[in-house]
Amino acid sequence: MIAIVSDIHSNLEAMEAVLAECERLGVTEYLCLGDVIGYGPDPLQLARIAQSKFAASLMGNHEEALVTGKHRFNPHAAQAIDWTRKILKPVGAETGPSGPLTPPLEWFAARPQFALRGKLLLVHGSIYDPVHDYVDEPENPVESEAMIQTLSRDFSGFDLCFAGHNHTPFLSTLVGTFFPHDDHREFVLPAGHKAYICVGSVGQPRDRDPRSSFATLDGDRLTFHRIRYDIAKTQNKILSAGLNRFLAERLGLGI
Ligand SMILES: [Fe+2]
Repeated sequence: MIAIVSDIHSNLEAMEAVLAECERLGVTEYLCLGDVIGYGPDPLQLARIAQSKFAASLMGNHEEALVTGKHRFNPHAAQAIDWTRKILKPVGAETGPSGPLTPPLEWFAARPQFALRGKLLLVHGSIYDPVHDYVDEPENPVESEAMIQTLSRDFSGFDLCFAGHNHTPFLSTLVGTFFPHDDHREFVLPAGHKAYICVGSVGQPRDRDPRSSFATLDGDRLTFHRIRYDIAKTQNKILSAGLNRFLAERLGLGI
């Protein structure tokens, strides 16, 4: 069973809760769609987890901003990424559980923009722009349908495109778009079916459900998961680090 995680955003409590659940489920491989860091208070701990645990970890727009200094972030995100760089910059090579780790900034700079694994395409953004583009929530069904048509028509090398970036879990297929919820969160995707799978965010969900979001794939069975974590602990760390209060408040609201 594979776990697909994204947008952890330096939230250690959320990541640990997700890892514990994945262990319980019998996950054997972790694929990360980017934005390991940014916004949150524990970038070094998340860098170590990503380096030592994830079989793939993509370049998100926050990793790009971290290593290039170039972005169009709002002031809160910009302050957090500058703070993150200050924390990570002095950290050199360390030894992780399975051997030496590259210095975090160097490692984040080397992240790929996408990854193709068999019938799975992994991106942070979308097939149009793997780092920056948003797969919009299908408020606009025409756009969503056009996207899936493009997948079916122009991309024969993979079936399922996993995306992060929008912090909202949903599944878009040729027959429609589905928002998973506690009573319906498992889907079977037979070979040949084209789908966009947005896995939501581990560390900063924005669908008004503050629980961590991720997905697992077991053969052709896709499952969306929501996990509670100690939000108050993360919020206190954000405030103690001097990061903007809104970054703490939004975690409690899921916005
Ligand atoms: Fe993100």
